[in-house]
Amino acid sequence: MKNALLSGFIFPRVILAPLSGISSLPFRKLNRKFGCKFAYLEMVGARSINYLSRRTKQMIAVDPGDRPLGVQLLGKDPDYLSQALEKFKHFPCDLIDFNAACPQKKVTRQGQGAALLKEPVKLAKLLSVMVKESLLPVTVKLRLGWDSPKGIVDLAKRVEDSGVYAVCLHGRTKMQGYSGSVDYQSIKKVKAALTIPVIASGDIWSGELAKKMFDLTSCDAITVARGSLGNPWIFKEINEFLAKGKVIPRPGIEEVIRVMNEHLNLSIDFYGEKAGVTKFRKFFIWYTRGFLQAKPLRIKVAVIVKHSQMLELIDEFSARASRKI
Ligand SMILES: Cc1cc2nc3c(=O)[nH]c(=O)nc-3n(C[C@H](O)[C@H](O)[C@H](O)COP(=O)(O)O)c2cc1C
Repeated sequence: MKNALLSGFIFPRVILAPLSGISSLPFRKLNRKFGCKFAYLEMVGARSINYLSRRTKQMIAVDPGDRPLGVQLLGKDPDYLSQALEKFKHFPCDLIDFNAACPQKKVTRQGQGAALLKEPVKLAKLLSVMVKESLLPVTVKLRLGWDSPKGIVDLAKRVEDSGVYAVCLHGRTKMQGYSGSVDYQSIKKVKAALTIPVIASGDIWSGELAKKMFDLTSCDAITVARGSLGNPWIFKEINEFLAKGKVIPRPGIEEVIRVMNEHLNLSIDFYGEKAGVTKFRKFFIWYTRGFLQAKPLRIKVAVIVKHSQMLELIDEFSARASRKI
C-alpha cells in the first residue's frame, strides 16, 4: 500500500486488458482514441527484460500519449523479477502487474503464470519482494484457481497481505481456459473478502455485460479483453451504457473501414510494411466478423504481405460486405 499511496494512482472503471501478442503500441493508441483510459503493455517475461532483444524492445515501446499504463511481468524467480523492476524504475508507466493467470502450457510448465495458483506461499513471497522493490504500485492478475474456485478467497487474502495495491481476477479457472461463462459469484466473494480494489475480468463483450459485472460482483473496475478485438468502439459503448443506460448502434461499414485503415497505418508505421501488414491480418479477421460475404476475404488475408494488397482486400470488403442483422 505504501507505494500506491505515494503514487496516488487510481484506476478508471474500464481498462484495456493485457493481451499477449496483441496489446502493442498501435493497438493501445487506437483504443485510447475510443475512450480507453488505462491500458497494459503485453505481458513480458522478467528474464527477457534483462536481455532486451529487438522483440522485447518492441513489446515495451511506449509514447507520451500512452498513459496511464501498466506493465505486466511474468516470472517465478525473485532475482529476475528484482532485476526487471530495476529496469522499470524510470520507465514511463503507472503500475506493475504480476501475471499468475496465464494458462498456456509453455508458461505453466515452467512454474509461471497460472501454475503459481497452486503455490500460494511462493506467490505471496514473490509479490512481497515486488512490493518492496517497486517504486510503483504492484498488482496481481489471478484466475479462480487451477481447476476449482474453492481456494480463491484464501488465495486472494494471502496476496492482499503481501501488500499488493489491487487484484485483477479473471473469473475462470486455468482448466477452463477461455471457455464456459465467467463465474460472477466467485468474483463477488473475493470482492467482499478484500479491502483493496478488485478488477474483474471475463466476458466483457458489451455495455450490458460490463454493467452486469459491476452489478453482480460489486467490483471496482473491469478489463475489456476479447471484446476489444476488431472492436475499439466497445469503450464508447461501455462508457455510454454505464453512464446513461443507452445502447449505441454498432458502427456501419464506412466507419469500420475508416478504423481498419487507421489501424493498418499505425501498424505499418510502427513495425514497417511487411511485419505491420502481417500483424494486421488477424485484426482484418476480427474487424470483418459479423459481416455477410466476408468469409472468403478472411481466407485470402492469410497470404497478404504488402500494404497495397491489404488495401485492395479492404476495398473488396467495402464493395461486397454488409452487416448481419
Ligand atoms: C489472446 C489473448 C491474450 C491474452 N494475454 C494475456 C496476458 O498477456 N496477460 C493477462 O493477464 N491476461 C491475458 N489474457 C486474458 C485476458 O486479459 C482476460 O483476462 C480474458 O480474456 C478474460 O476476459 P474476456 O472473457 O472478456 O476475454 C489474454 C487473453 C487472450 C484471449
